[in-house]
Amino acid sequence: MTSNQRNLANFFIRTYGCQMNELDTEIMVGQLEKKGLKRTFDEEDADLLIFNTCSIRDLAERKVMGKIGQLGRSKAKRPIIGITGCMAMAKKETLFKKLPNVDFVLGTNNITDLGTVLDEVLETKRPSLRTDDQFEENLDYLVAKRDDKVKAYVSIIRGCNKFCTYCVVPYTRGQEVSRPPEDIVQECQKLVDNGYKEITLLGQNVNSYGKDKKEWNCLFHDLLYRLDQIPGLERVRFMTSHPIDITKELMEAIRDLPSLCEFVHFPIQAGSSRILRKMHRIYTKEQYLEKVAMLKEIVPNVSLGTDIIVGFPTETDEEFQMTYDVMKEIRYSVAFIFAYSARKGTPAMRWKDDIPESVKLERVHKLMELQEGIYAEQRQEFLGQTVEVLVEKRNKDGKLKGRTRCWKNVVFESDKELVGTLQNIDIHSFNHQTLIGNLSESLILA
Ligand code: 5AD
Ligand code: SF4
Repeated sequence: MTSNQRNLANFFIRTYGCQMNELDTEIMVGQLEKKGLKRTFDEEDADLLIFNTCSIRDLAERKVMGKIGQLGRSKAKRPIIGITGCMAMAKKETLFKKLPNVDFVLGTNNITDLGTVLDEVLETKRPSLRTDDQFEENLDYLVAKRDDKVKAYVSIIRGCNKFCTYCVVPYTRGQEVSRPPEDIVQECQKLVDNGYKEITLLGQNVNSYGKDKKEWNCLFHDLLYRLDQIPGLERVRFMTSHPIDITKELMEAIRDLPSLCEFVHFPIQAGSSRILRKMHRIYTKEQYLEKVAMLKEIVPNVSLGTDIIVGFPTETDEEFQMTYDVMKEIRYSVAFIFAYSARKGTPAMRWKDDIPESVKLERVHKLMELQEGIYAEQRQEFLGQTVEVLVEKRNKDGKLKGRTRCWKNVVFESDKELVGTLQNIDIHSFNHQTLIGNLSESLILA
């Protein structure tokens, strides 16, 4: 710590966007705490404010710009303000012009530089910018400071080489860079030693894991077999997957590995093959359905999740209907539905954003209504079933809350000591989002 840095006692950090950002925040928190700074959840009280931002849709960016624009104006003691994450990469030095109160901009590939950049800002009192295109593998993941005590995110690959035409991620997170398998196994082992029971492996496209490092001889499914060997690691999940890269070996791993949950986030994005081609998704609807059929054959109890974009340029009512029909056919157990948002620098900008916002919203609502009906039917199907729940926490109302292997929320009444254990729960009812049950007679892990 430099002498100047003693001025910074505490920091506030806010995360926008996806799980990758959540993990990057945990790493930054760990780094700052190691430097002796304390985390505060009171923005007004902080000497350092960090906004870990998202660029995926226009609204995500506008929210942050509005928020930061308002900051530090009323305070006599001005905090240091930093922007990290995807917006830092997308807007780089232009952020200093748009938001003159910002002191540093740190890209997704430069988290390791946080300490140096802070020193620089404090010493020079001038804005500092680090936005490398390439990710260097020297990021210390082990420093991450996690709030959750039962589940943890572990990064296995950063970046994306797929270049879907609507998406900023390949530009904001760069090329795919896999993390050495030994490091991943070591981190997972350490987490289990510290009491963690569930790990979600993170990457923009986890199925690409290892393809950039052929010499490691460790593809995604190989990594899963290695992780399954860790005693005490009860559950492994992964996200996100590109359907084209979901292999038979991966499907067999889901069938065969006790730790691997039978849930695959398998985003189709759209139900029309013409739109999929324009999106550069590199599969047709038929090829996607074939993959789903194969997965269901190999893992009959698998649950599927998806992301959907409606209102992609030139999407007709008939093409939207194809998305509706495919969702009705597949009956996803999780679906995230988005209105297309034109992003600067993406190939889709070459087409006019021609679907009116009102039509996009109407399409989003139609799909949400469909999905609500499917969720309600799925909850009904759980009645009378016994499910395995990993107990995550005690809610404010005193009930215990956890999830099934297929990602459904469950609540039940019991003792706080059960947090962090697996329990069999008999489902007797449900409310809007959640299954409700009782401890089953057969405890499977105390
Ligand atoms: N507009 C709307 N949704 C988008 N997504 C990615 N880019 C855009 C965009 N420009 C959605 C995709 C992706 C999810 C993380 O966000 O569905 O899978
Ligand atoms: Fe974006 Fe497509 Fe890569 Fe997913 S696979 S991050 S949607 S470019």
